[in-house]
Amino acid sequence: MNGRDLVRSVRMVRAVGAAQGLRSVRAAWRRRKADASALPRRGAERARVPGTARDAESLPGGGVIHFARSSLRVRVAVGGAVFCGWDGAGPEPSYALAGACPEVDPRAVLEPDTEGGWRVVSERVLVVVSRFGAVEVRTPGGAMLRRELPPRWWDRVAAEGAEGSGDDAGAAVAVASRWVQQSEVAADARFFGLGGRAGGPRLRDGVHRLWNTDPGGAFGPGDDPLYLTMPVQLVVADAGTHLVFHDNSWDGRVTLHEGAEGAGSGHDRPGTCELRMDGGPLCYWVLAGTPARVLLGWTALTGAPALPPRWALGYQHARWGFGGAEEVRRVVAGYRERELPLSAVHLDIDHYDGHRVFTVDRERYPDLPGLAGELRDQGVRLVSIVDPAVKAEPGNAVYDAGVAADAFVRDARGEVVRGVAWAGESVYPDFTDARVRAWWGALYAERLAQGFAGVWHDMNEPVSFAAFGEATLPRSARHALEGRGGDHREAHNVYGLAMAQAAFEGLCELRPEERPFLFSRSGWAGLQRYGGTWSGDVATGWPGLRASLALVLGLGLCGVPYSGPDVGGFSGEPSPELYLRWFQLGAYLPLFRTHSALWAGRREPWEFGAEVLEHARAALRERARLLPYFVTLGQLARLSGAPYVRPMWWSAPRDRALRDVEDAFLLGDALLVAPVLEAGAVRRAVRLPRGRWYDTATGRAYEGPGRVWVEAPLSRVPVLAKAGSVLPVAGADGGTELEAWAPAAGRTGGGLVVPDGGDGWQRPEVARFTSRWEGGRVVVERRDGRPMEYRVRVRGLDGAEGGAVDG
Ligand code: NOJ
Repeated sequence: MNGRDLVRSVRMVRAVGAAQGLRSVRAAWRRRKADASALPRRGAERARVPGTARDAESLPGGGVIHFARSSLRVRVAVGGAVFCGWDGAGPEPSYALAGACPEVDPRAVLEPDTEGGWRVVSERVLVVVSRFGAVEVRTPGGAMLRRELPPRWWDRVAAEGAEGSGDDAGAAVAVASRWVQQSEVAADARFFGLGGRAGGPRLRDGVHRLWNTDPGGAFGPGDDPLYLTMPVQLVVADAGTHLVFHDNSWDGRVTLHEGAEGAGSGHDRPGTCELRMDGGPLCYWVLAGTPARVLLGWTALTGAPALPPRWALGYQHARWGFGGAEEVRRVVAGYRERELPLSAVHLDIDHYDGHRVFTVDRERYPDLPGLAGELRDQGVRLVSIVDPAVKAEPGNAVYDAGVAADAFVRDARGEVVRGVAWAGESVYPDFTDARVRAWWGALYAERLAQGFAGVWHDMNEPVSFAAFGEATLPRSARHALEGRGGDHREAHNVYGLAMAQAAFEGLCELRPEERPFLFSRSGWAGLQRYGGTWSGDVATGWPGLRASLALVLGLGLCGVPYSGPDVGGFSGEPSPELYLRWFQLGAYLPLFRTHSALWAGRREPWEFGAEVLEHARAALRERARLLPYFVTLGQLARLSGAPYVRPMWWSAPRDRALRDVEDAFLLGDALLVAPVLEAGAVRRAVRLPRGRWYDTATGRAYEGPGRVWVEAPLSRVPVLAKAGSVLPVAGADGGTELEAWAPAAGRTGGGLVVPDGGDGWQRPEVARFTSRWEGGRVVVERRDGRPMEYRVRVRGLDGAEGGAVDG
């Protein structure tokens, strides 16, 4: 045990109690012992590079290039996604992919290139492979997006008996080999993605680990990795935007260095990215185009985001430690009496009987279905936390059923692995087994019977408290991995994703008429198919506020559009100002939820004084007014993969100044939100994209691109609307109306509206609207010529005086 481990153990004992502390010491020893005896030792390795290209064979959509010591398969799919797989790796169904692999684009062909290399020409991307195995990804016009140097593997010689001399040898050891791939991108490129990163959204130079991790306690911008990592990089440069996804769930490290331009000297330093994986295949997908096009392609590959029910786009209140049904009633009444809209209440682990998942503490909640019904009548849904760890205790029905179903993860000797979670000694379902997923999914019947409308997955990295070493399952623990068999090194990162799949499929079966509402702390590429996520335990403090925006933006660029932070931060007591600024940011994020740790004080808006209450009320009302817009954005995310919350460069990726903006965001096409992320600020600078933007509070117009100063009094955060935009909002009578912002003179505009289709599976119609000037009036019409069904309110007509704009 080293010094850090010691500090951790002390903290652990403080957080979970002495008995748990002792268990977590024992669990840590068990884990260490299991791995020491069962994990293959590194042993002798032989380094390998592809060598020289010998020949190539054409296949539909590309072909295979044979090198002296490996092979590279290049295959272009319909829609433009390019697959590259070394060592015999093919485009196979995986945890990330939505189902079958996308069909091949037969128009893409493999051709010989100069100097003994090869190229695959396709509609959206040109792939050039050198005779030594460097791979260049270029735009069809030839501009370089990414240049990968020949990869390098370290094959385990003795254990696998691999000599590493030829394609077949390469294929035989593919899973066991460590490998590294180094790439270059343009000097002006910026990196985004890699799942939920607190230090972003623009990824900083340095190492980013690919291993889902509960940071333990609360985290801030400097903590990496966190709960939801994924090997998805989105790279934005003048030459174009591209996404690279390595379909490999093993532990890995991505080392990034942004490039630098030589200011006309011609000596640009390219950006570099090194991906180092502990094992698993070297195969990846590349998508290129505009950011919107790339996200559309990513959604086509990994699945459309689940659509949250309408109520999940309203404000939600969570609490660890409600105490019981009476306190829940009191809190809900507090919102009602103050006329503060409330959509859902989330119950944490303290509502369980002794922290046992799928149980209820009957003393504190004697009639949970009754409480749920009562709240439902007031328009408030109940959401339940669900942890994967099952208390290992005969008599615990879930444990007994799991034992009977052989559902729990075993070690290399065949014994069920025991870890430690809130309930004490616990076992972990193997969600990588379809049979176990079906068993677990059916357990949600109990949650539905208790009256819960949605679920909140937690601790699913998965966490097993450990006094030292990693707080998760042993790496040697065995997993079904869909029948292939493997261990936790491969299953760890997809554990939360597979748990989400189990719940989503179970809920669809149990309550087929309603869309499930699910969000999960951990996950991997493709999580959006089943639901969203949230920040996890973001530290209370101004840096935590900033981190919470970084997470939402970054996750959206990885295809997970629905997320949000613990408003107020998880860990401590926010000042009234910090709480308010967090609340105001949360009001514009898809998941708008207050939450805190057991020990971190309350988060009801009236707990922070009269002034905060008044301003929080304004934020809540504005959120309710924008609900039809959020519903539309959810539908558009489902149809196109475009996140609700988008970086400022979304529609202008070539605007370099916008690429570096991290303190403001676009909410759909129409709004620009500039939250206050600093103490004491009542004005702030906002960098505008091209075009006219109206401050929605003052009506003042600004012409972008450029930087403007706008007022940000405590009562609100600046929100600007794009001239010409048309968005649906709730009118005073509760019905939907259109808010149209006057186009700039001589310009036109428009917007999309997707009406609320209910909480089922209806396929709502997308209506398109246009706006234009006609004889001194702004006219808004349906694009398809059908009669206008909404009342229209035109804004931005009064005194559209240009505000000062600087560079
Ligand atoms: C950790 C979660 O991140 C947090 O939101 C939750 O309150 C605690 N676990 C207790 O369940």
